[in-house]
Amino acid sequence: MSIIFFNVNGKDIQESNVDPELTLGYYLRNTLNLRGTKLGCEEGVCGSCTVVLSTWDHSKNRPIFNAVNACLVPLFHCHRCFIITIEGVPPGNVIKERMARGHAAQCGFCSPGFVMSAYALLRTAKNPTIAQINRAISANLCRCTGYRPILEALQSFMNQGCCGGKINGKCCKDEESSQKLSDFSDFPNFDPTQELIFPPSLIVY
Ligand code: FES
Ligand code: FES
Repeated sequence: MSIIFFNVNGKDIQESNVDPELTLGYYLRNTLNLRGTKLGCEEGVCGSCTVVLSTWDHSKNRPIFNAVNACLVPLFHCHRCFIITIEGVPPGNVIKERMARGHAAQCGFCSPGFVMSAYALLRTAKNPTIAQINRAISANLCRCTGYRPILEALQSFMNQGCCGGKINGKCCKDEESSQKLSDFSDFPNFDPTQELIFPPSLIVY
């Protein structure tokens, strides 16, 4: 019997004789009943199934957080992985709050994927640049096409100075050079210490 061991949103799980064709996305929705992870194209194109798949980097002694398409990841590949879904990002989390304040969810189908892509970045990069944020969500599609509020909500995590990409000679963060849809200045920054920790049970030396 072959056994795999992993953790989803803080809960240790063990499965045996996993069907090699079973995907993480299907398993999350239909076995664990975590329906926040959406299945859209099921072929790695839309990003609606994005979850965070984390592994322990022994050389750096810290976890690595990657956003992955759960529709493409075979469940058997998740042995000793820490998986975080939208349900593992609690209500009140600043990513969700900024998405809500910015009216970034229309039908909401793509929203969990956008949140998880941003979450993977923010667990890794404390002060992301606008280029890092744009790259992190570049594989997420919104069929409602409401990209502007999504970009504004997530780009609001850029808290470094001017990136150099001037508009009419002015910094895009300057109120005079851009007309923002929403104001996020009263929101706290993302605090990784408030998030789920990498399960010690998965760290094997
Ligand atoms: Fe579209 Fe996974 S469901 S990328
Ligand atoms: Fe509808 Fe993005 S809000 S797909």
